[in-house]
This record gives sequence, structure tokens and C-alpha cells, in this order.
Amino acid sequence: MKIAVFSTKPYDQEYFEKYMESHNFEFTFFETQLNKTTANLTAGYNVVCVFVNDKVDDNTIKILQKNGIGLIALRCAGYNNVDLASAKRNQIKVVRVPAYSPEAVAEHAVALILTLNRKTHKAYNRVREGNFSLNKLIGFNLHGKTVGVIGTGKIGATFCKIIKGFGCNIIAFDMYKSEELIQLGVQYKTLDEVYQEADIISLHCPLNPDTKHIVNKEAIALMKNGIMIINTSRGGLINTADIIDGLANEKIGYLGIDVYEQEENLFFKDLSESIIPDDMILRLISFPNVLITAHQAYFTKEAMEEITLTTLNNIKEFESGVSLKNELL
Ligand code: NAI
Repeated sequence: MKIAVFSTKPYDQEYFEKYMESHNFEFTFFETQLNKTTANLTAGYNVVCVFVNDKVDDNTIKILQKNGIGLIALRCAGYNNVDLASAKRNQIKVVRVPAYSPEAVAEHAVALILTLNRKTHKAYNRVREGNFSLNKLIGFNLHGKTVGVIGTGKIGATFCKIIKGFGCNIIAFDMYKSEELIQLGVQYKTLDEVYQEADIISLHCPLNPDTKHIVNKEAIALMKNGIMIINTSRGGLINTADIIDGLANEKIGYLGIDVYEQEENLFFKDLSESIIPDDMILRLISFPNVLITAHQAYFTKEAMEEITLTTLNNIKEFESGVSLKNELL
């Protein structure tokens, strides 16, 4: 089985090399993203292994089909970057890693909340420079605040359990209500009620046509003044222009994002010596109450291990011709 791995970073290669010995697979690691321009690299391979920002659209898939690719193995949970209908038409199977570590992402969402609120990132820099002043470092107690969770699947549910420990009231919106979370004290509400009543909103739903720009100017208008918005799910859930307006007119008090609408041109790259080709992210960075991390919520040792082992097993199942446990249909 010959596998072309795209968007490879040193840590991806390290984990595959650690675990691949027990399999008879031949890996080639490409740093480049998979898209319609790079898809020609897949000639002679059986499987492509891709990540969140590879563009596996209809044009790319047609080339994969011509090159004899039989499997697209996503090493992530979200699959908004793959045209599933086209893969089906072209008889290419698609597998993913459905749940590698909900704790990793949920804990990162909490880290964004705590950092934005208690400003530890600013305190760290101040103290290193001999500035021991507390001016402008004031935060608020999480205890007693209302946290709105949009999407209470695996990550959202884990987030609810953690944030409950801070003594927060939790309200949530999802089409499917979790009995376990109701028992925990989570109150399901309409989406508008979550927008209106929450002090902090954390997004944990997938990106799809229904959820694209779920946070836009109409949603922001319903929110409390000074709202904290956290997005560790997908950038497209937030309309970036609208969120910039909300920050500029001080309706939004805090924004913590691990994902960004145009992230494929930026994230996972060192652009520190380059001109950043994106004015919107530069505007976001300019706000003192915005914290951006570059899609690292998943990035823990435990999650990397689970991603690698599940991906290897997904490919093994494909090789053996058995039914694929993690196939996307
Ligand atoms: P999941 O499938 O377990 O849960 C998603 C939940 O969202 C489900 O309960 C579903 O009913 C709900 N949902 C769907 N449409 C909705 C809507 N319109 N409004 C409200 N809720 C809706 O998925 P999981 O594992 O919890 O992951 C959630 C998302 O987190 C993924 O789709 C992915 O985009 C993102 N993610 C981000 C990572 C990162 O490193 N930043 C890593 C892993 C996942």
C-alpha cells in the first residue's frame, strides 16, 4: 500500500514513523497542501492522507480518480474540506478520525477563556520586563457566569463538563439534546436565547451550509454587551467582517479563536519574515482583547497518538477489503 501524506509537518512524520513499523505501508511525506494543482503528485499511490486545510474538492478528486487513488484518509474529525458527493461519484472512499481527543479541544477552549479573562499572556510579558503593575489586568469571576455552548457533541459535551467545575450556568443549543448533559444541569435553549443570555459563547458545531456564519451581525446584535466569543471549531462559523465590526464598536468584549476563515493561507506556516497576505487577520491581531492560536486545539501527545493509530487502522481496513469503521458516506 503506497500512501501520499499531504500538508506534512515534522511532528506528523515523527508520529507516523514511530508507529508504522508494524504495518507494511510505504509512506511519502509531502509538505505541500493537496489541491487541484498538486494532485498530480498522487500518481502511483493507492491512498492520500490529508488534514484540515487540504482542498479536496471536485477538481482535485477527479485527478485522484485518474491516478488510481482508492482512499482519502483524513487525519482529523471535520470533513468540510472534502467534496463527499464527488468522492462517491468517483468511487473513492473517505475515512476520518472521528474522535481522537475531545478533551484536547475542550481544554484548549477553556485555556482561551482563562487567558483572555485573566490576561496571563500580558502579565507574563510585563513581569519579564520588570513591570509589576496591575493596571488594565482586571478580569472577572467565571463562577456564576452563563456559558452558551453551540453544538453539544463529543467536544461540546466535554467542554460543558469542564466549565461546570468552574461553577458556571450552562445553556446550550443543538438539534439533539443529550440526556447526560441535562442531568448535569445543562439547559437547552433556542439559538437566539443562547445568543441573548450568555456571557460567554463557545462554538462546538461542525461547519456545514446550515452553520456557515452562524455568528454574523444579526447574531452579534442579540448578544450581551461585552460578550466573550470562543471558536475552536471551524473558522467559517464566524463572519470575520462582522466580528471585526463588533470588536471595533466594543459590542464584543473578548474574542478567542483557534480557527479562522482564511486560515489555509496562514496557519501551520512560519510567516514571521513575510508580509502577511491577509488584512483581516492583521486587523484582528490589532485588538487588545483578541487571542488567536493557529489551529492547535487538537495538538496534544494523546491526540497525535490517537490520530496516527486510527489513521493506520483505517488504511489497514481498506487494504484488507473489510468494511471501513470510520467511513464517511
Ligand atoms: P460531533 O459530531 O461529536 O458534535 C457536533 C455537534 O454539533 C453534534 O451534536 C451536532 O448535532 C451539532 N450540530 C450540528 N449542526 C448544528 C447546528 N446547526 N447548531 C448546533 N449544533 C449543531 O463533533 P465533535 O467531535 O464534537 O467536533 C466538533 C467540531 O470541532 C468538528 O466538526 C471540527 O470542526 C472541530 N474540531 C476542531 C479541532 C481543532 O483543533 N481546533 C479539532 C477537532 C475538531
